[in-house]
Amino acid sequence: MTDVAVVAREIVLPSPASDGPVAGSVAAGEQPLITEAPGEVLFSTEAIQRRVRALGAAIDTDYAAECPILVGILRGSVAFLADLIRTITVPIEVDWLAISSYTGHSSSGVVRLLKDLDSNIRGRHVLLIEDIVDTGLTINYVMRLLQERQPASLKLCTLLNKSARRIADRPIDYVGFDVPDAFVVGYGLDYEQRYRNLPYIAVLDPALLP
Ligand code: XMP
Ligand code: MG
Repeated sequence: MTDVAVVAREIVLPSPASDGPVAGSVAAGEQPLITEAPGEVLFSTEAIQRRVRALGAAIDTDYAAECPILVGILRGSVAFLADLIRTITVPIEVDWLAISSYTGHSSSGVVRLLKDLDSNIRGRHVLLIEDIVDTGLTINYVMRLLQERQPASLKLCTLLNKSARRIADRPIDYVGFDVPDAFVVGYGLDYEQRYRNLPYIAVLDPALLP
């Protein structure tokens, strides 16, 4: 049998973290590790991590003896939920819902359930984890759907709260940041499925829209 030599590929890392986006030092011919910011950066990686730790601490206190089920709404809340659960020290479970309500950057107003929960939430404490609440229609639909299943409690945690265009106004129990009425991307949020991998949140430059 021929021996296969495994050669470690050298990875060029971006320069140490700063408050703004880091393009990274990329050697000629290599792909940059971090996409260039598609607009003004609203929340840096560090600001997001600080806020996520604060939210985790509040959840730790509020759910100390409850073993809540944290329900992430796919796909936008993936980055937020992944970071949030690692700041929580009390026992929790995680489940996912998939919803389709948007095409491109404006609301279609139609909410569809694409993937249901795997867990039975009857009698359980449920904390919904959303990336952004905009008109509130999506969260309104999801919360009504879950409430019918008679959880012991049902609360909402959103990383971003864009209240300017709110139609369905229901209280939000945990908010990361308030955002202006602009289309934001990064840290899980996308435009046409792109930019989810940015470690910061930026306003999408309108010049990039069709
Ligand atoms: P509603 O209007 O139902 O919308 O509260 C919630 C969902 O709409 C998406 N959304 C955005 N996605 N940048 C995004 O990447 C935004 O600025 C934005 N505003 C709303 C998002 O999927 C959210 O779950
Ligand atoms: Mg979403």
